[in-house]
Amino acid sequence: MLQYLIFQRKNVEQTLSIIKPDAVKQGFESQINERFEKSELRIVKQKKLHLTKEEAENFYAVHKERPFFNALVAYMTSGEVIVQVLEGENAVMRNREIMGATDPKAAAPGTIRKDFGQSIEANAVHGSDSLENATNEIKFFFGD
Ligand code: CMP
Repeated sequence: MLQYLIFQRKNVEQTLSIIKPDAVKQGFESQINERFEKSELRIVKQKKLHLTKEEAENFYAVHKERPFFNALVAYMTSGEVIVQVLEGENAVMRNREIMGATDPKAAAPGTIRKDFGQSIEANAVHGSDSLENATNEIKFFFGD
């Protein structure tokens, strides 16, 4: 019985998703949420907010030295975003698969960025790229 239970245990994770200003402005929220639900990623926390410059700079601090950093901060503070915690089996990788490549032009057909993104910057969604970053990013927006 114990063996059976261990065998059945699933690798349930949480990951952070952000629906970015371009997608919020165009009203893609419910269509993007449907993609999560179809992939068995449950939205367990969610809030809509307008990031301050300081919040955007801190959230993307890892990109501070990149040439696109200032533009990225300006874009992420240009309108409201929807910040979400997604939960499900292998949520970090599963969300990255359904988001698609960073640049919508390079993203696979049927992915969120291919269908709702406009450019490498206005690419509809952000998703944590590792379990460690997911934990930190969830803490950043929702606390412990
Ligand atoms: P995101 O997953 O939110 O993480 C960092 C973001 O920087 C990325 O999505 C892109 O939207 C944005 N970005 C803008 N320009 C570039 C670029 N040249 N290379 C990678 N990311 C970029």
